[in-house]
Amino acid sequence: MVDVMKMKKPLTISATHLKALMDHARKVAKKSYSPYSKFKVGAALQLSNGEVVTGTNVESISYGLTICAERAALVSAVSRFGPKIRIRAVAVTNLNGGASPPCGACRQLLSEFIEPDAPIIFASIDGLRTMTFTELLPEAFGIKLK
Ligand code: THU
Repeated sequence: MVDVMKMKKPLTISATHLKALMDHARKVAKKSYSPYSKFKVGAALQLSNGEVVTGTNVESISYGLTICAERAALVSAVSRFGPKIRIRAVAVTNLNGGASPPCGACRQLLSEFIEPDAPIIFASIDGLRTMTFTELLPEAFGIKLK
């Protein structure tokens, strides 16, 4: 049987795969270092090479240095697989029962590595929500000169 997630460019990502990605996000959230906010976030990236890379939030006593789960996952993915990675789907959740849409900074950083139509599944206050990346960040900053 062909595993669609092992294909270079899976055309679609099934609801089952998105749920599995969410399980990865929930699992890594348990590793969160968040003594200040106590908000434990986990993110999982599905890469086009078939790999899943996860990340959790790491806080700092110097609050502004905090790294979000999504950015931790992205930095880990580039560190493991190099600068050519492509992200096909993202799952984000937290262990606090709150909403977990990726923050603006994370959306901007993801924008250079993600397929525009990649589904982003995240916890919302009334269950899981899925949107495409472009829906989440319609006008990503990029240096576009005339
Ligand atoms: N956080 C994330 O990990 N991802 C986001 O997209 C937004 C916020 C973290 C940062 C901080 O450790 C905690 O959630 C509370 O803001």
